[in-house]
Amino acid sequence: MGILDHHKKIETHATLLLVLSFLVVTIGGLVQIVPLFYLENTIEEVEGMRPYAPLELAGREIYVREGCYVCHSQMVRPMRDEVERYGHYSLAAESMYDHPFQWGSKRTGPDLARLGGRYSDEWHVAHMVNPRDVVPESIMPTYGYLLNTNIDGRYIQDLLETYRMVGVPYTDEMIENARADFLAQADPEADHSGLLERYHSAQTRNFDGQPELTEMDALIAYMQMIGTLVDFDTFVVDASR
Ligand code: HEC
Repeated sequence: MGILDHHKKIETHATLLLVLSFLVVTIGGLVQIVPLFYLENTIEEVEGMRPYAPLELAGREIYVREGCYVCHSQMVRPMRDEVERYGHYSLAAESMYDHPFQWGSKRTGPDLARLGGRYSDEWHVAHMVNPRDVVPESIMPTYGYLLNTNIDGRYIQDLLETYRMVGVPYTDEMIENARADFLAQADPEADHSGLLERYHSAQTRNFDGQPELTEMDALIAYMQMIGTLVDFDTFVVDASR
């Protein structure tokens, strides 16, 4: 009886209701917002993560442009069925250089967060040209035209600079050498020492098997490195953080 009578006072007094509502919303808002300021402390840094090499980054741009994320996620959830199918669950740090991230909300096709190294380059070319040739029941669209679009890294330096603007730690040296690194990664004859110094374990070869440097090279360079940077044989989960 008593407490409801008090509430009647609030309900029949517009200003009091407004002031008290405001107070409740403020407290609720603070509870949600304040932890965000400390978010940096909750993202663990993980050994092995590095920014994308220029050709990989170009491949990633193609991946985003073609809307691959409409059907593919890139996040293995920490559940047994997923870990057994795809591999180690994804770490927050693994997408720290992704703008925009590709976690995705729909899986028409499989998750691609651990794609790197699962198939050969030849398999990828065949699969992109006509998925049905390698997976008869596939409903994935064809992307063979990527083989016909030559690229030369004309704007790659600008692209790296843009990523630096949003927080990816590309050094001046990386940006200066962006185009050279871009071309070297897909050229088996090139000197790869600079590229490898700047981007550890970058894979270097002719990815699409054609003499020209094409969008297919870039996309495969990207696909073959997705999820391979962190060495899960040596990675230990630090639960104390
Ligand atoms: C309309 C939905 C759709 C789109 C868009 C799509 N895919 Fe797929 N993808 C699938 C389906 C379904 C499969 C499973 C069958 C298969 O392997 O073809 C698949 C499989 C794959 C696989 C094999 C994965 C594995 O672990 O076996 C790769 C790699 C892949 N897609 C890459 C891409 C890329 C790159 C793009 C964008 C250029 C793309 N997909 C766009 C539906 C799609």
